[in-house]
Order: sequence, then C-alpha cells, then structure tokens
Amino acid sequence: MKLTVCSLAPLFDFYSVDRPVRWEEAFGRRAPLHVEIGFGMGEVLLRRAREFPHINFVGIEYHWERIYKTVKAIDRANRAARPGEGPGNIRILRLNAWIAFERLFAERSVEHIYSLFPCPWPKKGHIKHRLFSREFLGLLNNRLTDNGTLHVVTDYYPYSEWVKEENDPVDFHLQAEDIPAQFGTKFEKKWIEEGQEEFFEINLLKNKHRACTVREDCELKSYKLTEFDPDKFSFEDVRGEVAVVLKDRIFDRDQQRMMLRVIVSEQHLTQNFWAMLKREDGFWRLCKMEGQHFFPTPGINTALEEIHLAAVGRQTVRHNN
Ligand SMILES: C[S@@+](CC[C@H](N)C(=O)[O-])C[C@H]1O[C@@H](n2cnc3c(N)ncnc32)[C@H](O)[C@@H]1O
Repeated sequence: MKLTVCSLAPLFDFYSVDRPVRWEEAFGRRAPLHVEIGFGMGEVLLRRAREFPHINFVGIEYHWERIYKTVKAIDRANRAARPGEGPGNIRILRLNAWIAFERLFAERSVEHIYSLFPCPWPKKGHIKHRLFSREFLGLLNNRLTDNGTLHVVTDYYPYSEWVKEENDPVDFHLQAEDIPAQFGTKFEKKWIEEGQEEFFEINLLKNKHRACTVREDCELKSYKLTEFDPDKFSFEDVRGEVAVVLKDRIFDRDQQRMMLRVIVSEQHLTQNFWAMLKREDGFWRLCKMEGQHFFPTPGINTALEEIHLAAVGRQTVRHNN
C-alpha cells in the first residue's frame, strides 16, 4: 500500500480536551467561528478558509474517505502557500453533527453554520433520518450567537419545504430562494451532470434564543464483586432506547482479566466501549478499560450496570424504554 505523507494537524482530537471545546485555544486565537456540516470533499471549507483568514472554520463530516481527501487538500494548499499564509484556520471533526453540537460547542458560540446538500432521505420512511429537524434546529439556535445565521442549500425541493415546516418562526426568521449552481462541490457537479439547473437555498436568521444545555460527561460507575466465574459469564443483549450489544469477550487466565467489547446506542450516539473485569486484592473490579476514546454517557453506565448484573448472575432480559 502506498504511503501518504500529509499533515494531520487539522484533525481535531475532541476526546482529549475539556468539553465544550474552548475553540479560541484550539485555534490559538480568538476569532468568529463558522461551522460547515457535511463538508464532503471540503471544497467550500478550504475555499472559504482561504478567502476569510480572519475566521476560524470547523468542518464536521463522518465519512472517513472524504475527510481523508479534505485533509490532503488542506496539506497541498499549505505546502503551496508562503510560510504562515496557508489555511491554518480549519479544524476538522470526524463526528456526527448532532453529537458535535450537543457536546463540543457552547451556547452562543458560533456565528454562522452552513450545510450544502445535506442527505435528502427522499423515501417517506426515511424522513426521520433527515438532519435539519425541529429538534436539531433548536440545538443549532442555542449554539448560534445572537443574530447568528444558518444557511442550508439542497438539491431536493421537498427537503427545503420540509425545513420550512420544521422551523419554528419564533426561533428563526426564514428566507427561501431558488438559486443556480455556484458551489463547485462534488455533489453539486453530480446533479448538474444529471441535468439539474435550480437548487433551493434556505437562510435562517436567529430570532429568539432557545434553551438547550450542553451535554456533559457522566461520572462512570465501577463495581467491586466478591465472586465472579469467567467460565459461567453470559450476557443478554439489551434492546430499547439504550441498546447494549456484546460483541467480544476475551479472558486472560494468567492475568485474571476479562475484556468485553459492547456496542452502546442511545439517541444519536453509537459507541464501541470496552469494559474490564480484573481480579485485584481478593475482589473482581468492573470498570472501563483505559486507553480508549468514548464519551462517558448514561448509556455507557447502563452497559456497565448490565455487565455487572450478568457477572453476578442477576441480569434479566428487559427492554429499557
Ligand atoms: C450529499 S453529501 C454533500 C457533501 C458536500 N457538502 C458537497 O456538496 O459535495 C452530504 C454529506 O454530509 C455528510 N453527513 C450527513 N449527515 C451527517 C451528520 N449527521 N454529521 C456529519 N456529516 C454528515 C455525509 O457524510 C456527506 O458527506
């Protein structure tokens, strides 16, 4: 496999910092904050970062291949620029936008948010997957500064109509317009090739500030077990609002340590979590395993609780909603 040499500096490690993030520290300067949701190949993110060097840009995307291409494009732009004149004003979050706004951005911290061609989810049964729902708009409203703005452009007319319905006019003053192609992104080019000439722009100007607290990390539970038999351990997956599915279990007889990998799903967040059962001082300790990245959430505590119940033989099959 070919080795790619490229600066990874724009990739922001949000697990290792206090949250909500102090963006002025992350960028090393105080400046207005603009956020692009679903930047794809990063064409607009990079262009705007160069055009507006006085603004700090955060790009959010969860598709790794696209992030990888964007990071390479930023690196090329930096190499081509004179020292200190490259686009050093971009930080990238490889994360679902829901989680990013819930946990990483403080109230009234973002001046402008934009999203070009969000996934349209045209099928009726898939509308629940659309991003700019009433609830998400409420969250963005809270994170935007007073008079902050949100700009969404879609290729799918019913999506723009849906955003209009989802918007609460108390939260945002909305203006919609039909516009020609102008962004030059991969997806815009694709639709032009397919013959589309008109796109649908929605501009939302923040009216009234809405309450929506930043989600904070939970304190994680740990358990002390007087008895535990690794050979008899059995776990029933938990289904419901919080789902916990056991994926792997590894037992080291010499070290008397069991590692368990579970997938924990809650609201918009699905995480891989490793728990550990370790013999120490005549007890078995159940706790999180060190050396992994995750958000400590109520769902992770449910996982620890269920593993504990299973380890002491008291887990009952139940749905927790
Ligand atoms: C249709 S593409 C548009 C990409 C780009 N803006 C363009 O115009 O080419 C939508 C992008 O949004 C990303 N995306 C969708 N939902 C997201 C979410 N909840 N959080 C982060 N990225 C998301 C997808 O991975 C995809 O790259």
